[in-house]
Amino acid sequence: MCEQRTRLGALVSGGGSNLQAVLDAIAAGTIHGDVVLVISDRPHAYALERARAAGIATAVLTPDAYPSREAYSQAIADCLQQASVDLVLYAGFMRIVTREAIAPFRGRMMNIHPALIPSFCGPGFYGRRVHEAALHYGVKVSGCTVHFVEEDVDGGPIIVQRTVPVLEDDTPETLAARILEQEHQAYVEAVRLFCAGRLRVEGRLVRILPERPVGV
Ligand code: GAR
Repeated sequence: MCEQRTRLGALVSGGGSNLQAVLDAIAAGTIHGDVVLVISDRPHAYALERARAAGIATAVLTPDAYPSREAYSQAIADCLQQASVDLVLYAGFMRIVTREAIAPFRGRMMNIHPALIPSFCGPGFYGRRVHEAALHYGVKVSGCTVHFVEEDVDGGPIIVQRTVPVLEDDTPETLAARILEQEHQAYVEAVRLFCAGRLRVEGRLVRILPERPVGV
Protein backbone atom coordinates (compact mmCIF):
# COMPACT_ATOMS: atom_id res chain seq x y z
CA MET A 1 0.00 0.00 0.00
CA CYS A 2 1.52 3.33 -1.01
CA GLU A 3 -0.96 5.79 0.54
CA GLN A 4 0.08 7.80 3.60
CA ARG A 5 -0.26 6.26 7.01
CA THR A 6 -2.82 7.88 9.30
CA ARG A 7 -1.47 9.72 12.35
CA LEU A 8 -3.45 8.67 15.43
CA GLY A 9 -3.73 10.45 18.76
CA ALA A 10 -5.32 8.76 21.77
CA LEU A 11 -7.02 10.24 24.84
CA VAL A 12 -6.87 7.94 27.87
CA SER A 13 -7.68 7.88 31.58
CA GLY A 14 -7.20 4.30 32.71
CA GLY A 15 -5.85 0.89 31.80
CA GLY A 16 -5.61 1.47 28.09
CA SER A 17 -6.56 -2.00 26.90
CA ASN A 18 -8.34 -0.49 23.89
CA LEU A 19 -5.22 1.53 23.09
CA GLN A 20 -3.23 -1.70 23.34
CA ALA A 21 -5.59 -3.46 20.94
CA VAL A 22 -4.98 -0.69 18.40
CA LEU A 23 -1.21 -0.82 18.96
CA ASP A 24 -1.24 -4.60 18.48
CA ALA A 25 -3.26 -4.26 15.28
CA ILE A 26 -0.78 -1.67 13.96
CA ALA A 27 2.12 -4.00 14.80
CA ALA A 28 0.31 -6.83 13.02
CA GLY A 29 -0.17 -4.66 9.91
CA THR A 30 -3.98 -4.63 10.20
CA ILE A 31 -4.19 -0.86 10.70
CA HIS A 32 -2.43 1.42 8.20
CA GLY A 33 -1.50 4.12 10.70
CA ASP A 34 0.62 4.99 13.73
CA VAL A 35 -0.20 6.27 17.19
CA VAL A 36 1.95 9.40 17.48
CA LEU A 37 0.66 10.85 20.76
CA VAL A 38 -1.17 9.63 23.88
CA ILE A 39 -2.74 12.24 26.17
CA SER A 40 -3.95 11.38 29.66
CA ASP A 41 -5.87 13.41 32.24
CA ARG A 42 -4.29 11.27 34.97
CA PRO A 43 -0.52 11.15 35.52
CA HIS A 44 -0.58 7.52 36.71
CA ALA A 45 -2.86 6.00 34.09
CA TYR A 46 -1.49 2.61 33.09
CA ALA A 47 -2.27 3.51 29.48
CA LEU A 48 0.72 5.88 29.64
CA GLU A 49 2.98 2.94 30.49
CA ARG A 50 1.68 1.10 27.46
CA ALA A 51 2.39 4.13 25.27
CA ARG A 52 5.92 4.57 26.62
CA ALA A 53 6.62 0.85 26.16
CA ALA A 54 5.69 1.30 22.49
CA GLY A 55 7.95 4.37 22.18
CA ILE A 56 5.05 6.79 21.73
CA ALA A 57 5.12 10.42 22.90
CA THR A 58 2.88 11.10 25.90
CA ALA A 59 1.39 14.19 27.52
CA VAL A 60 -0.50 14.62 30.80
CA LEU A 61 -3.11 17.39 30.79
CA THR A 62 -4.96 17.63 34.09
CA PRO A 63 -8.22 19.61 34.02
CA ASP A 64 -7.56 21.38 37.32
CA ALA A 65 -4.66 23.23 35.66
CA TYR A 66 -7.17 25.11 33.45
CA PRO A 67 -9.76 27.75 34.37
CA SER A 68 -12.64 26.15 32.45
CA ARG A 69 -13.66 23.07 30.54
CA GLU A 70 -13.39 25.14 27.35
CA ALA A 71 -9.78 26.09 28.12
CA TYR A 72 -8.97 22.45 28.90
CA SER A 73 -10.56 21.34 25.63
CA GLN A 74 -8.60 23.98 23.71
CA ALA A 75 -5.35 22.73 25.28
CA ILE A 76 -6.16 19.18 24.16
CA ALA A 77 -6.91 20.38 20.62
CA ASP A 78 -3.66 22.38 20.51
CA CYS A 79 -1.65 19.38 21.64
CA LEU A 80 -3.25 17.10 19.04
CA GLN A 81 -2.81 19.65 16.26
CA GLN A 82 0.83 20.27 17.14
CA ALA A 83 1.36 16.54 16.63
CA SER A 84 -0.46 16.72 13.25
CA VAL A 85 -2.93 14.08 14.34
CA ASP A 86 -5.39 12.93 11.64
CA LEU A 87 -7.65 10.77 13.81
CA VAL A 88 -8.32 11.12 17.55
CA LEU A 89 -9.31 8.07 19.60
CA TYR A 90 -11.11 8.40 22.89
CA ALA A 91 -9.79 5.22 24.50
CA GLY A 92 -11.34 5.11 27.95
CA PHE A 93 -11.05 8.88 28.40
CA MET A 94 -13.39 9.84 31.23
CA ARG A 95 -13.75 13.57 30.49
CA ILE A 96 -16.36 15.36 28.49
CA VAL A 97 -14.74 17.92 26.21
CA THR A 98 -16.37 20.92 24.58
CA ARG A 99 -16.62 22.19 21.01
CA GLU A 100 -13.06 23.63 21.28
CA ALA A 101 -11.69 20.08 21.10
CA ILE A 102 -14.40 18.55 18.93
CA ALA A 103 -14.83 21.06 16.07
CA PRO A 104 -11.24 20.84 14.70
CA PHE A 105 -11.59 17.05 14.52
CA ARG A 106 -15.19 16.65 13.38
CA GLY A 107 -15.48 13.36 11.55
CA ARG A 108 -11.96 12.55 12.73
CA MET A 109 -12.59 11.79 16.41
CA MET A 110 -13.93 8.43 17.64
CA ASN A 111 -15.13 7.15 20.98
CA ILE A 112 -15.78 3.66 22.26
CA HIS A 113 -18.68 3.21 24.66
CA PRO A 114 -19.38 -0.03 26.56
CA ALA A 115 -23.09 -0.29 25.70
CA LEU A 116 -25.36 -0.41 22.68
CA ILE A 117 -26.00 3.28 22.03
CA PRO A 118 -28.61 4.82 22.34
CA SER A 119 -29.05 2.74 25.53
CA PHE A 120 -27.09 3.45 28.72
CA CYS A 121 -25.14 6.39 27.36
CA GLY A 122 -24.76 10.13 27.76
CA PRO A 123 -23.49 12.19 30.69
CA GLY A 124 -22.87 10.08 33.81
CA PHE A 125 -22.72 6.78 31.93
CA TYR A 126 -19.13 5.64 31.97
CA GLY A 127 -17.18 2.58 33.12
CA ARG A 128 -18.86 0.39 35.77
CA ARG A 129 -21.97 2.61 35.93
CA VAL A 130 -22.94 1.60 32.40
CA HIS A 131 -23.00 -2.09 33.29
CA GLU A 132 -24.80 -1.51 36.59
CA ALA A 133 -27.53 0.34 34.69
CA ALA A 134 -27.83 -2.40 32.06
CA LEU A 135 -28.12 -5.13 34.71
CA HIS A 136 -30.56 -3.07 36.75
CA TYR A 137 -32.75 -2.57 33.67
CA GLY A 138 -32.71 -6.29 32.93
CA VAL A 139 -31.58 -6.22 29.31
CA LYS A 140 -30.75 -9.60 27.74
CA VAL A 141 -28.09 -8.28 25.39
CA SER A 142 -25.55 -5.52 25.75
CA GLY A 143 -22.41 -4.68 23.85
CA CYS A 144 -20.27 -1.82 22.67
CA THR A 145 -20.42 1.03 20.19
CA VAL A 146 -17.73 2.92 18.31
CA HIS A 147 -19.01 6.29 17.08
CA PHE A 148 -17.80 9.65 15.86
CA VAL A 149 -17.67 12.27 18.60
CA GLU A 150 -20.11 15.18 18.47
CA GLU A 151 -20.99 17.76 21.12
CA ASP A 152 -24.02 15.64 22.08
CA VAL A 153 -22.35 13.16 24.49
CA ASP A 154 -22.33 9.64 22.96
CA GLY A 155 -24.66 10.98 20.26
CA GLY A 156 -22.48 11.00 17.13
CA PRO A 157 -22.86 8.74 14.07
CA ILE A 158 -22.33 5.05 14.83
CA ILE A 159 -19.49 3.24 13.08
CA VAL A 160 -19.41 -0.27 14.58
CA GLN A 161 -21.48 -2.11 17.20
CA ARG A 162 -21.02 -5.55 18.71
CA THR A 163 -23.35 -7.45 21.02
CA VAL A 164 -22.86 -9.89 23.90
CA PRO A 165 -25.44 -11.87 25.89
CA VAL A 166 -26.24 -10.78 29.43
CA LEU A 167 -26.18 -13.83 31.72
CA GLU A 168 -28.39 -14.30 34.77
CA ASP A 169 -25.48 -14.45 37.19
CA ASP A 170 -23.61 -11.49 35.65
CA THR A 171 -22.09 -8.82 37.87
CA PRO A 172 -21.01 -5.44 36.48
CA GLU A 173 -17.47 -6.87 36.39
CA THR A 174 -18.27 -10.06 34.46
CA LEU A 175 -20.42 -8.17 31.98
CA ALA A 176 -17.74 -5.49 31.57
CA ALA A 177 -15.10 -8.13 30.87
CA ARG A 178 -17.25 -9.85 28.23
CA ILE A 179 -17.93 -6.52 26.53
CA LEU A 180 -14.30 -5.39 26.73
CA GLU A 181 -13.22 -8.37 24.59
CA GLN A 182 -15.64 -7.17 21.92
CA GLU A 183 -14.52 -3.56 22.33
CA HIS A 184 -11.00 -4.47 21.32
CA GLN A 185 -12.24 -6.02 18.07
CA ALA A 186 -14.77 -3.29 17.36
CA TYR A 187 -12.27 -0.46 17.87
CA VAL A 188 -9.65 -2.10 15.69
CA GLU A 189 -12.26 -2.61 12.97
CA ALA A 190 -13.43 1.02 13.10
CA VAL A 191 -9.88 2.41 13.05
CA ARG A 192 -8.85 0.02 10.28
CA LEU A 193 -11.77 1.19 8.11
CA PHE A 194 -11.02 4.87 8.76
CA CYS A 195 -7.35 4.46 7.92
CA ALA A 196 -8.29 2.65 4.72
CA GLY A 197 -10.52 5.60 3.74
CA ARG A 198 -13.61 3.40 3.86
CA LEU A 199 -15.91 5.43 6.17
CA ARG A 200 -18.29 8.02 4.75
CA VAL A 201 -20.60 9.98 7.06
CA GLU A 202 -24.01 10.88 5.58
CA GLY A 203 -25.99 12.65 8.28
CA ARG A 204 -26.41 10.14 11.10
CA LEU A 205 -25.43 7.24 8.87
CA VAL A 206 -21.88 5.98 8.50
CA ARG A 207 -21.50 4.12 5.24
CA ILE A 208 -18.78 1.50 4.98
CA LEU A 209 -17.35 1.68 1.50
CA PRO A 210 -16.22 -1.46 -0.31
CA GLU A 211 -12.56 -2.38 -0.28
CA ARG A 212 -10.70 -0.81 -3.19
CA PRO A 213 -8.87 -3.22 -5.47
CA VAL A 214 -5.07 -3.06 -5.05
CA GLY A 215 -3.46 -0.37 -7.25
CA VAL A 216 -6.64 1.67 -7.81
C1 GAR B 1 -13.81 0.73 28.25
O1 GAR B 1 -14.74 -0.22 28.65
C2 GAR B 1 -14.51 1.87 27.53
O2 GAR B 1 -15.57 1.46 26.74
C3 GAR B 1 -14.99 2.69 28.71
O3 GAR B 1 -13.93 2.66 29.62
C4 GAR B 1 -13.19 1.44 29.47
C5 GAR B 1 -11.74 1.77 29.25
O4 GAR B 1 -10.96 0.61 29.21
N1 GAR B 1 -15.34 4.01 28.31
C6 GAR B 1 -16.41 4.67 28.78
O5 GAR B 1 -17.14 4.23 29.64
C7 GAR B 1 -16.64 6.05 28.16
N2 GAR B 1 -18.00 6.42 28.29
P1 GAR B 1 -9.46 0.64 28.69
O6 GAR B 1 -8.77 1.81 29.41
O7 GAR B 1 -8.90 -0.67 29.14
O8 GAR B 1 -9.46 0.82 27.20
